[in-house]
Amino acid sequence: MQNIVLIGFMGTGKSTVGRRLAQSLAWNFFDTDYVIEDVTNLSVTEIFRRHGETRFRSEERIVVKRLSQQERIVIATGGGTVLNPLNWEALAKNGIMIGLHASIEAILSRIGHKHNRPLLKGPREEIEKLWSERQKYYAKADFTVDTSQKNIDEVVNEILAWLGRMDNCEFCRVAKD
Ligand code: S3P
Repeated sequence: MQNIVLIGFMGTGKSTVGRRLAQSLAWNFFDTDYVIEDVTNLSVTEIFRRHGETRFRSEERIVVKRLSQQERIVIATGGGTVLNPLNWEALAKNGIMIGLHASIEAILSRIGHKHNRPLLKGPREEIEKLWSERQKYYAKADFTVDTSQKNIDEVVNEILAWLGRMDNCEFCRVAKD
């Protein structure tokens, strides 16, 4: 296992936590959404609007494939990335999967007012449905932190402490030091 992969619903803190975690480990950080935006030269919203979700998912698939082949990087995925079994397989084969969880209330208060997530445009019931349906995917993570009531440092420290307790994990020594 070479990488650390953050998974979870939109607004659980994957990007913020991932960036800070990478800093702590002195590793590089990649956010799949930002890489997709870079490669396509379009924002996620624009890709959805102009080309649809199918195109976004195919760009995401390519980016995941590429990032999974790297070593010692922290990857923040998009909320829907690990729904594709091929993405899960590639990421988990070479990485420790860390789930970030948050209550629907916490999620909506963090990002409900933002306009950069095409899948959050619907009414609350639809968002709740999506959240519920996806929990089974995120539940497969090796370790999960509930970020609802925690600040970034608390979440990062919890992950580092867990990594430090892991056996048979060469790079986890970094977290122990
Ligand atoms: C999505 C989550 C978004 C982004 C896209 C689709 C999803 O990423 O990939 O809007 O399907 O949940 P974040 O989880 O970083 O918001």
